[in-house]
Amino acid sequence: MAARLIDGKAIAAEIRREVRLDVAAMDAQTGVVPCLAAILIGNDPASATYVQNKARACKEVGITSVRIDLPADLPEALLLQEIARLNSDPAVHAILVQLPLPPHISEKRVLETILPEKDVDGFHPANLGGLLVGKPLFVASTPLGILELLNRSNVGIEGKHAVIVGWSVVVGKPTAFLLLQHHATVTICHIKTRDLAAHTRQADILVVAAGKPGLVTGSMVKEGAVVIDVGVNRLIDGRVVGDVDFPRVAEKASLITPVPGGVGPMTVAMLLRNTVDACRRIRDAGCSQGAAGDYIG
Ligand code: GUN
Repeated sequence: MAARLIDGKAIAAEIRREVRLDVAAMDAQTGVVPCLAAILIGNDPASATYVQNKARACKEVGITSVRIDLPADLPEALLLQEIARLNSDPAVHAILVQLPLPPHISEKRVLETILPEKDVDGFHPANLGGLLVGKPLFVASTPLGILELLNRSNVGIEGKHAVIVGWSVVVGKPTAFLLLQHHATVTICHIKTRDLAAHTRQADILVVAAGKPGLVTGSMVKEGAVVIDVGVNRLIDGRVVGDVDFPRVAEKASLITPVPGGVGPMTVAMLLRNTVDACRRIRDAGCSQGAAGDYIG
């Protein structure tokens, strides 16, 4: 194998150590400890596990977390009321609503109700739009994690051709804009892209977030490319694999993320970082509410 592994587990552990020191310093200087409220609706086991992992990670770094469990048949209006309550609670600095939501609840209305200053998932349209103009309050954790992996692996971004496979609002599009902000030339490929391989072969940095195991094969990758695999696919034999044919692509790439242990661990680490940033910003503004209107317009 020619490629060097980008060890997301080790890099995420480093970020968590940094966050722990930040939280301790904040506590010592101001007596304020960041607080994340996580809302879980219904009893989907995967969502419950994600929320549990986030709460555990908070605890490890000294962030307070509050978990709010709500029934799957909760009327949407009551969920929106609960979010509004958290928006105006000065002791809560960060809010996330675990997705997916039950079908009777509008994801759009829910995400738009979270105050952008507390939207540590970065899914509010004000934060997504902020990324477009280069000034978001929060960027979603996975794109942020991808950028950290590149930075901490000393991968220069400026002037490189970054090709993103996948145009989702939570990964593909924000990753493209982050890389653009760092002066990459960016191509976004998606389900309708003709001759995908012709695009991926041009990539100096290839980010694959399509949710299709084995989508990117060795012949689709340029010699020496940096490959970031965001896919998490569970096969029928129980194995978890990415979107990239790892053994073949690793023969061509210079750096590659494994699955698991690449991008995945970064997502929670960056959520912790966003939570500390939310707390700091709210504390510095001297209130828990107010500036959202500047972004909403
Ligand atoms: N469901 C799957 N990933 C995520 C995430 O990053 N944030 C939230 N809120 N829900 C999710």
